[in-house]
Amino acid sequence: MSRVVELKHPLVKHHMAMLRDKNTPTYIFRDQIRRLTLLLAYEATATLPVEEVNIETPLCNTMCKHITTRIGLVPILRAGLGMCEAVQELIPQAEVWHLGFYRDESTLKPVEYYQKFSEHPPEIAFVLDPMLATGGSAVEAVNMVKDWGAENVSMLCTIASPEGIEKVQKAHPDVSIFSCAIDEGLNENAYILPGLGDAGDRIFNTL
Ligand code: PRP
Ligand code: URA
Repeated sequence: MSRVVELKHPLVKHHMAMLRDKNTPTYIFRDQIRRLTLLLAYEATATLPVEEVNIETPLCNTMCKHITTRIGLVPILRAGLGMCEAVQELIPQAEVWHLGFYRDESTLKPVEYYQKFSEHPPEIAFVLDPMLATGGSAVEAVNMVKDWGAENVSMLCTIASPEGIEKVQKAHPDVSIFSCAIDEGLNENAYILPGLGDAGDRIFNTL
């Protein structure tokens, strides 16, 4: 069953404050995205399937659990790259498939410019993008990941708008959305309020 999860942890609130602050410099902004993604990924991976494995400790044998499912991370370029290493740190065996979209600011539609998927789709895919605004980029990304063959897809974002969540849920009712915050809504330019501004520009210092 799909879920919409907003993290309530005090550490998330604390790090979000620094992330939102317009005076936070790029190098700290990037660190904050990374820290928040670690917390987000911990929550989003809580239901990953595990298999029993026999392990020999220095003292005896014991049954442990490990993850054998093929997992794919799909960062939406550019801003999704800021989240990718944090998830890889927790799931080092994950494969990474890049998807390049930019939002055309006049039509607000996502424009695809890059795709690098492997021949075999993963069993579980996590689409990574800090901002879920109108939801156009997320819906298109999930379309492509599903067309490719992935069945179990979740969306990880730092900030989501109610409008974006609704759009993703309508198009993909089976997709869970994990977000550090669900904000008030979109402004007249479809930027999230209160938001954090342009995530890609703040991560890559292209303001
Ligand atoms: C931003 C963001 C999402 C998209 C969200 O990317 O990272 O991909 O906009 O908007 P939407 O939900 O309305 O589609 P942007 O187009 O600014 O590209 P960038 O990551 O290269 O900066
Ligand atoms: N893209 C961003 O980077 N920020 C927003 O608020 C909306 C789209």
